[in-house]
Amino acid sequence: MKAILLAGGKGTRLRPLTIHTPKPIVPIFNRPFLHYQLDLLKQVPEIDEVILSLNYQPRRIEEIFGDGTEAGIKIRYVVEPVPLGTAGAVKYAGDNLAESVVVVNGDVLTEVDLAAVIRLHRERHARATIVLTPVENPTAYGLVETDTDGNVRRFLEKPKPDEVTTNHINAGIYVLEPDTFDRIPKDVAWSIERRYFPSLVERGETFVAFVYGGYWIDIGTPEKYSQVHRDIMDGRFAAEPFRGLPAPRASVAPDARIEEGATVEGPCFIDEGVLIKTGARVGPYSVIGRQTQVEEDASIDAAILWPNCRVSRDATVRNAILGRNCHLGRNVTVDGGAVLGDKTTLTDYTRA
Ligand code: GDD
Ligand code: MG
Repeated sequence: MKAILLAGGKGTRLRPLTIHTPKPIVPIFNRPFLHYQLDLLKQVPEIDEVILSLNYQPRRIEEIFGDGTEAGIKIRYVVEPVPLGTAGAVKYAGDNLAESVVVVNGDVLTEVDLAAVIRLHRERHARATIVLTPVENPTAYGLVETDTDGNVRRFLEKPKPDEVTTNHINAGIYVLEPDTFDRIPKDVAWSIERRYFPSLVERGETFVAFVYGGYWIDIGTPEKYSQVHRDIMDGRFAAEPFRGLPAPRASVAPDARIEEGATVEGPCFIDEGVLIKTGARVGPYSVIGRQTQVEEDASIDAAILWPNCRVSRDATVRNAILGRNCHLGRNVTVDGGAVLGDKTTLTDYTRA
């Protein structure tokens, strides 16, 4: 059985982080996000190959994962000449498929039991099966109405507030029969959410819902990206290196240097080669990337710093995300959800 990972989006809502780092490989702690999705797919031994559907900066992604040997699952790359939308991408990537295929949005993190989803698809002889998850505000997602037998009755992408009739949304995980792809035109952009799913409903085809109430998140915005880190540090989603650590979970690389007189409060993550100087403070929910330096009396709180940043003396970083190689001068303050792109330099005393 094959799985298609849709990872061709530009990640616009995560800009500027995604300007040099495509969303599928944005780091969660020190691990590119796609690893977590491969972990999910690897739980189903029947899945013997992952087709990565890409178009934005595909080389960067290929360089990291290669043929999948290291990740432990065979990976093939399909690069669209132009973005074909979610349905066009599935058709393009799954052109020669003859058996049921698993399709996963490239930006969701979940512990759903994928094998159980596949089982339901087979038991119901479905043409398509979709995982649904409850959220507070469905307007940013695909709203899915079902009947009492668990059949999908309506699919409405990005509903307006007055169109919200349920809190169940599309979790971005499907099992599909490739012979349903006949309705997707070749070589033009086509949306799985706006065209393909509604057409299954219109034609009365067996379209089944698998409702999942456990952990699920879409990392597509800076708020959600930060939330994923908090959830892992709090143990709401079990992942390395926090799995099994007692709360407050602090993970400090063995070669990180925390000078005398510096304070580090968990939950937090401090990666290899980090230097925290005297008087500096790293507060809860901070993530400090490889080789980053936090100088004397600087303070980091609930912030995510990618590798090779430098935070000078007396600077404060609170509730913010810094891309790679950022350089903050003395007494700089960055807070309020700020997101700084790679190589941002802020002069002494700047407030951002
Ligand atoms: N290959 C390819 N080509 N991939 C694409 C393209 C494309 O043209 N467009 C989007 N993708 C990929 C993105 O990289 C992402 O992994 C996935 O398809 C979904 O696109 P998003 O841009 O993240 O969509 P969304 O978050 O607004 O909404 C989607 O996900 C929600 C769940 O997170 C929809 O599927 C909603 O219905 C769903 O609720
Ligand atoms: Mg998304």
